[in-house]
Amino acid sequence: MEQTSNKFKRTTVTSALPYANGPVHIGHLAGVYIPADIYVRYLRMKGEDVVFIGGSDEHGVPITIKARNEGISPQQVVDKYHNIIKKSFEEFGISFDIYSRTSSKTHHETASEFFKTLYDKGEFIVKTSEQLYDEVEKQFLADRYVTGTCPHCNNDKAYGDQCEKCGTSLNATDLINPRSALSGNVPVMKETKHWYLPLDKYENRLKQWILEEHKEWKPNVYGQCKSWIDQGLQPRAVTRDLYWGVKVPVEGAEGKVLYVWFDAPIGYISATKEWAEKKNSEFRRFDSAQHKSQNSEKYVNWETYWKSKDTRLIHFIGKDNIVFHCIIFPAMLHAEGSYILPDNVPANEFLNLEGDKISTSRNWAVWLHEYLIDFKGKQDVLRYVLTANAPETKDNDFTWKDFQTKNNSELVAILGNFVNRSLVLTQKYFDGKVPELNDLTDTDKQTIADIAVFPQKIASALDVFKFREALSEVMNLARLGNKYLADSEPWKLFATNPERVKTILNISLQICANLAIVMEPFLPFSSATLKKMLQFDVNNWAAAGSSTILAPGSKLNTGEMLFEKIEDDAIVAQVEKLNNTKEQNAMTETSVAPAKPDITYEDFAKLDIRTGTILTAERVPKTDKLLKLTVDTGIDQRTVVSGIAANYDPEKIIGQKVTILVNLQPKMLRGIQSQGMILMAENSKGELCFVQQEKDFENGAMVK
Ligand code: 2FM
Ligand code: ZN
Repeated sequence: MEQTSNKFKRTTVTSALPYANGPVHIGHLAGVYIPADIYVRYLRMKGEDVVFIGGSDEHGVPITIKARNEGISPQQVVDKYHNIIKKSFEEFGISFDIYSRTSSKTHHETASEFFKTLYDKGEFIVKTSEQLYDEVEKQFLADRYVTGTCPHCNNDKAYGDQCEKCGTSLNATDLINPRSALSGNVPVMKETKHWYLPLDKYENRLKQWILEEHKEWKPNVYGQCKSWIDQGLQPRAVTRDLYWGVKVPVEGAEGKVLYVWFDAPIGYISATKEWAEKKNSEFRRFDSAQHKSQNSEKYVNWETYWKSKDTRLIHFIGKDNIVFHCIIFPAMLHAEGSYILPDNVPANEFLNLEGDKISTSRNWAVWLHEYLIDFKGKQDVLRYVLTANAPETKDNDFTWKDFQTKNNSELVAILGNFVNRSLVLTQKYFDGKVPELNDLTDTDKQTIADIAVFPQKIASALDVFKFREALSEVMNLARLGNKYLADSEPWKLFATNPERVKTILNISLQICANLAIVMEPFLPFSSATLKKMLQFDVNNWAAAGSSTILAPGSKLNTGEMLFEKIEDDAIVAQVEKLNNTKEQNAMTETSVAPAKPDITYEDFAKLDIRTGTILTAERVPKTDKLLKLTVDTGIDQRTVVSGIAANYDPEKIIGQKVTILVNLQPKMLRGIQSQGMILMAENSKGELCFVQQEKDFENGAMVK
């Protein structure tokens, strides 16, 4: 095996494990799997020792919520989506060495052992703290089990682990007005014990390792790490009160599992173990069938791929995963002590769809399994468009119009056209056989010299994870071919100078052969088709750059087209599909909120609701939402803090008749004691209005 570089002998490439709670879409492909696949294919073509790891992330709260909503078990959810995802990746040619899953036995054992090692080394701290608890569901509410208002941007649909609007990573207890995602209830606080990884303890090491030793990382990755480290790292809970996941393997942890972000990256290691095991058992089977002794050299050891200093570890991920792969997982690996740390984490930004954020819950996505039906056999077109438009340095947009343009004006008009012209002319003039090379003109010599530099240009971009640039160089090679043909005009020369035409077509076909090689990492299906057309089978990067790949006299296979035009109606159909989704979302978004669980009459009778009148109103300083009101309740005059400032100016509501819950426990809000709650109706757009009385009753009338 050739060496990766002086320092490294092999490369372990991981790609983020997608959650098995839905199918995969173009955002996944563009952000993670296509770049990872291009990179791995390129390394393999260079003869390097590389293992490409993938798998499904089958734990975490969203999976249990989905199971609950669908009335099935979490295992049934992950079985369904794992298979759909795996199939989509296979069909798009994502060439994993293994695509595993975190519900596997090996993974549970590996994650469990990893935790136990850290536990035995005393690397965790144990803390008892108050966490949100749903008294109806009898369950602690971590991560996505709780929604509420983000303290940073006021988004009232933030989750307990993250606000998807401003991207801030949150703790469930940070949320304002938290609600249980299970029952809609307001949670209470309840004590529970958890194990924490003291990230603060590793802060200096991480700072030195990333900020000093990895200045070459992509600016978006380096910048995010720096911002985390600059804010100071805090201990992070790595266990949860949940039933679904890897059980915490220590005493006193009954009913607790490992936090999904603790076990998921260990999934890369478990999958590597499974890969090695499978490969070795194949070797064993082969050797014993051949009656050979076991050749130790070819057997693989998973540990080499994770623990040898001469192994390079690369994580392909999207930007929402940066902190987990650059800070938390490395801290775990460092704490364990025997693992290498990633050499690079070339994270991408996000891909949007027709101007909007891709969203699984809003069905705003191009799903891969649907694309495969609608654009059968056109996997490379999507691979091309998503690479040409990859969100490498900033968020990018996928539009169906651009998809069509890139297919018709680039793949068809540049690459396909060049290959087609070279083959058709060879068929016409030389019976489909590679003609020989005769005397070379200066243009020929220059063209041959130009061909020679492309592999290096492409490789230099790939080596630093610039996939867009690398692909544009592949297209430049096709452009060079088109220009060469157009400038030399063989169709005008054949009648008078067939020898010259032989040379022109030989060089053109050598360019086609070069294209077939260098496009393999990007467009593997078309590369295979082109090789079949040219009747050669070289998958070796070192062979590219040569102008003698195809032997004169060898027969070509003509008649196939590499790419075909995509007509308007196919695009219109896709745009319509998205418009339908938009309409459906608009309808759902304006529909009423789901019903809450039933309560008893006794529960209702506990509420003391009265008619009242607002006497004074003023804004609470430094908030956009709160008004401080004095309300005459008939019983007394009291202060109520109400979140209606966005809807009502204080001066306009003095004298307003209201309905007020008077026996709500007093609560301190921004230093003001609020005694009661004004009842408001809220529509689907978040607008508020007072719950009014039909007649002008005196203050203090009871609402029953
Ligand atoms: O963001 C996600 O989709 C996670 N499931 C990625 C996990 S990556 C790794 F750690 F497994
Ligand atoms: Zn926010």
